[in-house]
Amino acid sequence: MRITTRLIVALVIAVTAVSGVATYLTVQQERNRLTTELEHRVWLLAEGLEESTGPLISGAPSKRLDRIIEKISAGKRVEGIAVFDNADRPVSVSKGLSGKLPPDPGSILKDLPDETGKGVFEEIASQPMYVFAMPVIVDDLRAGSVLIVSDTSYIDEHIAGIWRRNFLRILANALLISVITLLIVRWSIIGPIAQMSAWIKGIHKGKTDDLFKFPKKGIFEPISKEISNIVKSLAVARTQAEEEARVRRQAGSTWTAERLKVHVKDKLQDRKLIVVSNREPYMHVRSGRLIECISPASGLVTALDPILKACSGLWVAHGSGNADREAVDGKDMVRVPPENPQYVLKRIWLSQEEEEGYYYGLSNEGLWPLCHIAHTRPIFRIDDWARYQEVNLKFAKALDDEIEEGTYIFIQDYHFSILPRLIKQRHPGTKIALFWHIPWPNPEAFGICPWKREILHGMLGADLIGFHTQYHCNNFLETVDRTLECRTNWESFSTTRMGHSTIVKPFPISVDFSGRPPVAPGHGKDDLLRELGVRATMLGVGVDRLDYTKGIVERFRAVERFLEKNPEYRDVFTFVQIGAPSREHIKRYHDFVGEVVSEVDRINWKFQSADWKPIVFLKRHFSHAEIEPFYRNADLCMVTSLHDGMNLVAKEFIASRDDEKGALILSTFAGASRELRDAILVNPYDIEQMADSIKSALEMDPSEQSQRMRNMREVVRENNIYKWAADVITELTNIRGNP
Ligand code: G6P
Repeated sequence: MRITTRLIVALVIAVTAVSGVATYLTVQQERNRLTTELEHRVWLLAEGLEESTGPLISGAPSKRLDRIIEKISAGKRVEGIAVFDNADRPVSVSKGLSGKLPPDPGSILKDLPDETGKGVFEEIASQPMYVFAMPVIVDDLRAGSVLIVSDTSYIDEHIAGIWRRNFLRILANALLISVITLLIVRWSIIGPIAQMSAWIKGIHKGKTDDLFKFPKKGIFEPISKEISNIVKSLAVARTQAEEEARVRRQAGSTWTAERLKVHVKDKLQDRKLIVVSNREPYMHVRSGRLIECISPASGLVTALDPILKACSGLWVAHGSGNADREAVDGKDMVRVPPENPQYVLKRIWLSQEEEEGYYYGLSNEGLWPLCHIAHTRPIFRIDDWARYQEVNLKFAKALDDEIEEGTYIFIQDYHFSILPRLIKQRHPGTKIALFWHIPWPNPEAFGICPWKREILHGMLGADLIGFHTQYHCNNFLETVDRTLECRTNWESFSTTRMGHSTIVKPFPISVDFSGRPPVAPGHGKDDLLRELGVRATMLGVGVDRLDYTKGIVERFRAVERFLEKNPEYRDVFTFVQIGAPSREHIKRYHDFVGEVVSEVDRINWKFQSADWKPIVFLKRHFSHAEIEPFYRNADLCMVTSLHDGMNLVAKEFIASRDDEKGALILSTFAGASRELRDAILVNPYDIEQMADSIKSALEMDPSEQSQRMRNMREVVRENNIYKWAADVITELTNIRGNP
């Protein structure tokens, strides 16, 4: 039976049963009511008869008595009346009753109660009747009795009427239910199923555009979203497989997720790999009544997430999302990414005081400006340092439960400078790598830190310390050399303190070259600009956390200068800046956002026309998928950091441009400039030079642009994130017997 028929039959049965029971109860009630009413009416009649007939019952026929009973018998629904003497012999019988007297009136008249009389329902001459008898009392003596016979067929007719009407009502209900069910099933189930199957068929046939047209409304929305996620993962996997096949054909040397997986398995030999960072790769945040899972804006997360996906393992990080606690299990763990879990994230909870001192304070008001030479004075507070040490110890203790013999631990960044030593002291058998994602300044600059000795001593608990560039490695070793008692070997780039050696090496971090998020149709340059309410033909893009080290204001001034020098680009070129809010709790960051906004306003005010403006500033968190269309459609991308460890936006932009178009303007003070030599390299403090570089980028000969992009893509493809991870893991696992 089809679902519709089954649904209709079930509903009709249910409605019929309910209506049937309701009708039955009504019928019972009505029958009781009518019967009682009849009994009462007849009783009243009998009472009247007793009075009027009493004196006339003598045993002899009486004309007057005949007249009285004939008159009363004419009443509604009275079939007839009979009067009996005290020997129960009929003395007067109305015409209506002749031949219809009950078969055995004696049995009715016997033992009649004086006051109430007695009534029975019985069939007389095939007709339903009510027979009521009452004694006639004269002077306290029984003179005789009256018998009233009433027709009760009207009660049955009334009841039959109720059944008939209700039957018709049930029929009408059943019809209505069938029609409504049919329509609902058609509109809400069969229609969406047909739509969904057409959608799946389209995708199956390889129509990738259809991927983004998944049926959005109706009961299948959650399913179609899931399918869409699966199909997207398959699309990415397919691209990666194609890329792997291509690479295998070409040289057999490029690193892929698959190759890394095999390599890591081989190197770890069943030992555990734990990654530790402050920033977690997935944050659960409340958005109205819903909980969303977002990937935060962080180069570190962009780089490490594909590695963990490829090799599983455990990632331990600060649970900073406001709905994070709701997503974890009893061990504070959650499998991520939510739509396709591939590894485990363990969240560590920090109190507000700890976060204040460790994260905002020492890490981001102290070490961040200390390591980035960007003219923001580091602030060192003794309380922050205390919290920083406490939180590092908290992470060390949290790791106690996870560490096994020979576990490899990969610590990230300046939030955990003393963690390597704390772990090494508790678990000497572990092998620890620390990667410093930000620059390392020269020894003089670092020398102002009041806890430089403790920080360096803590870092040297690691077996391996990585920086993005050789220059940062040199700065670090020089700083160590000048600050601590240790033996530095400049040939092997290692330093030994208290019998423990630490290798210091550059590992230029990168991105997942082939696993780009797919872009939905309708996200071309014109669409993007139209959505932003700007009419222009050339698009520049910048994507950053709103951080004073990123050179965002300098970039805007370069756009301003470019438009001053080249007025023909007004109404033609628009620069879109995507800015993810970051560390806003810190005054310097808060003020910085104000600076950015007022620069945008000032420059727009100066040049804007009715439907064009030079700068569009989008201040919010964008997912990777949302950023991708901007990368793909930009004529140029500006990365103008005043100082940056690597900067993965530059590499993401390159990886996105499989059309080999678009130009990259890149600061020489970003680590990426060491590898991306085909970018247009600029000094972000030199506004004039940056303005000219915008013009060069927009006017570059297409063949030169393609050649440069091809070269840069080759660099990023070869030195991708999987190679970075493989290099770090190889180096770490090669270290033997280091106490
Ligand atoms: C830099 C740091 C990362 C950090 C990221 C985002 O890239 O090297 O460790 O995660 O900035 O900053 P946030 O403070 O939001 O984690």
